[in-house]
Amino acid sequence: MMHNMDLKFISLAFISLFYVYGSPIELHSNSINTLSTVLNDIIQGNVANIQTADQILNALLLAIGNTLSPPSTREQIIDAAANASNAKTNSSPPNLIEYAVNLLILGIDPNNVHTNIASLTTFNSMTNNNPHLLNVIKAEDPQFSADENILRAAMYFPTTFNILNSSDIPAIIMIPATAIPGGQSWASNYAKKFAEEKIANPMWLNIPSFTLQDAQISAEYVAYAINYVSQYTGNGNVSVIAWSQGTVNTQWALKYFRSTRKIVSDFIAISPDFRGTVLAEVLCPKFPRLPCAPSILQQIDSSTFIKVLRQNGGDSEIVPTTTVYSATDEVVQPQSGPQASGLLLNASNNLIQDICPLQPAGLIYTHEGMLYNPLGYALAVDALTHEGHADVNRMLRQNPAICLLLTTPGLTVEDVLIAETTIITFALNIITYSPKQFNEPSIKKYALSNAN
Ligand SMILES: *[C@@H]1O[C@H](CO)[C@@H](O)[C@H](O)[C@H]1NC(C)=O
Ligand SMILES: *[C@@H]1O[C@H](CO)[C@@H](O)[C@H](O)[C@H]1NC(C)=O
Ligand SMILES: *[C@@H]1O[C@H](CO)[C@@H](O)[C@H](O)[C@H]1NC(C)=O
Ligand SMILES: *[C@@H]1O[C@H](CO)[C@@H](O)[C@H](O)[C@H]1NC(C)=O
Repeated sequence: MMHNMDLKFISLAFISLFYVYGSPIELHSNSINTLSTVLNDIIQGNVANIQTADQILNALLLAIGNTLSPPSTREQIIDAAANASNAKTNSSPPNLIEYAVNLLILGIDPNNVHTNIASLTTFNSMTNNNPHLLNVIKAEDPQFSADENILRAAMYFPTTFNILNSSDIPAIIMIPATAIPGGQSWASNYAKKFAEEKIANPMWLNIPSFTLQDAQISAEYVAYAINYVSQYTGNGNVSVIAWSQGTVNTQWALKYFRSTRKIVSDFIAISPDFRGTVLAEVLCPKFPRLPCAPSILQQIDSSTFIKVLRQNGGDSEIVPTTTVYSATDEVVQPQSGPQASGLLLNASNNLIQDICPLQPAGLIYTHEGMLYNPLGYALAVDALTHEGHADVNRMLRQNPAICLLLTTPGLTVEDVLIAETTIITFALNIITYSPKQFNEPSIKKYALSNAN
């Protein structure tokens, strides 16, 4: 079932080095060459079928040798991410496998993140035992291609859910990014804060294949969860917050699974890519010589998926929508000006560098840095506590000193580090995803009809 059953990785030469000579010391003695060899093998797709994500992480750590000690302040973490992603220089961003390695070198792997934080057993579980509710699937919507039992099992309700439900706090569904489970994406930032401050009642999706499958299928998980959570909480409205690919999955669900748009009070989009990204090489090094995961092909700016999504009103807000993005995003570009991928017509569109120019909250934030950027959280709260989408001026009146903050108040240094570890998980899950392909999945029939 899991992503790492049919794995690809690393040349046989490296594997024999690793297993025959085995000890870290052997590898350390030539660590620079070894790391570049290992990286080159991964990027070139020289693969064998036996590597799990954990084995890959271990092999990389062995090849790297001694990593620095983890950054211990927010400033250092943000600076490390800016350095590692080349965001400070005008050079093009590294691909995400190199970026992950740069972060590992800088010590962004406290206590073996992939084993501890990205573990699939707890809050990242895709096999949750949720009660069966009747009539979650609506006749007016297109037919779901995913099995209902699997759709239902992808929803994770943290223990706060029942407590907050009984106090009538509206539910919020949290949708993860490509290649990262929902728990790792959200639990240490927005979910924690929403629950603590009783702003919203969080739960999240852990989408099978880590959302690397056809994005149209991942959108079904969003559509299903909107109707399920509404019913589960007494048929009220829900809100949705999504990060990265989760934003296009949500917009697709709202556009084509029309039952959902009547019951979503707010859609909050963090680091969205409604126009896809021009940085395909960053996500899929060596494409089109080597194949790529389906949902990444769909997020290339020239994809048919993006073209179809944007047609007939898909480029405008469908429910009250608040977007928040950073011009220095190393994954999604362009991310400023009228062509920003994060922008939706008629929505509240928020470029952090415009809101707090040359001040801490508006400096260099990465794609994942938007999980802890204080403007994102404050705008989400503004949207959720007022009718309609956020209003940036109202938010600034309520938070007059917000531009001076680096991270959302209440997040610990560890929380900020965890947001950065998503890049490491991203790289490992991309490397091990199978089957990769050369062409994006075909558009579903329901999206090709004129009615949409
Ligand atoms: C980032 O790079 C600058 C300049 O190369 C360096 O001075 C600084 O220490 C680096 N920061 C971190 C956290 O690695
Ligand atoms: C949440 O609250 C609603 C209405 O107050 C109730 O109908 C529903 O059963 C509750 N759901 C859960 C999961 O506790
Ligand atoms: C529920 O959401 C819809 C769509 O955004 C909105 O029109 C409606 O006013 C909301 N209802 C409530 C009670 O908030
Ligand atoms: C967007 O807003 C403009 C006015 O600002 C309005 O004319 C237009 O109808 C709106 N479009 C949608 C799709 O709501």
